[in-house]
Amino acid sequence: MQIITIAMQKGGVGKSTLARSLAVAAVRDGLSVLIVDMDAQQSVSQWAERREADVPVVVFSTENELPKKLAQAKEAADLVIIDTPPARSTEAPAAVEVADLVLIPTTPDVEPLEQMPRTLRLCRGFSRPVFAVINMANPTGSTEVTQTREVIEALGARTASVVLHRRKAHRDASASGLTAQEIDVESKAAQEVSKLWEWVRAVLQVNN
Ligand SMILES: Nc1ncnc2c1ncn2[C@@H]1O[C@H](COP(=O)(O)OP(=O)(O)OP(=O)(O)O)[C@@H](O)[C@H]1O
Ligand SMILES: [Mg+2]
Repeated sequence: MQIITIAMQKGGVGKSTLARSLAVAAVRDGLSVLIVDMDAQQSVSQWAERREADVPVVVFSTENELPKKLAQAKEAADLVIIDTPPARSTEAPAAVEVADLVLIPTTPDVEPLEQMPRTLRLCRGFSRPVFAVINMANPTGSTEVTQTREVIEALGARTASVVLHRRKAHRDASASGLTAQEIDVESKAAQEVSKLWEWVRAVLQVNN
């Protein structure tokens, strides 16, 4: 069982969407996947309630319950994806501590990039492999992606090679408890998620 933690102190950068998209991509790849929702907003748990399919399994957990929930999942789940709350929290450190890989979603905006050092410090405290994931990039321009990569590199961090652009399909899918891959597998949103999942799978193998 491997654990991916999605963390970023800045709110609204796409943590929960990324957790759901990667979880569904992994399910479609034949893995048994558990999402642990550690955010009191419970946006992934609510998404699961809107959803008809019963996979990926979603459970809510506080940091105190996390070791028990992970121990229970150990036999059944190949992959656990932990979604964490924004802002400073007790949940994010607990989730980073157990992770095999930490993903830090960020939009190409100054506000999340200014917050990123805090999340990076948290990850470095636990020596976990960590990558930023650029999300909601402008579909028509590549300059901002190049600049965002440079900012992240200057912070001493690595960026996932696959970028997710701003695509309406992510929002539309969420409304019906789905992911972009499930509403239209041919869509650009779905193809980007699929490429990102392939990249994540390769990184997990390397770090295994
Ligand atoms: N690539 C994308 N393209 C378009 N919309 C997106 C994309 N990623 C996320 N969104 C939308 O942005 C909004 C915020 O996303 P999400 O809830 O995943 O962020 P979050 O980081 O989990 O927020 P919070 O910090 O409040 O938990 C949602 O409406 C979601 O549908
Ligand atoms: Mg969220």
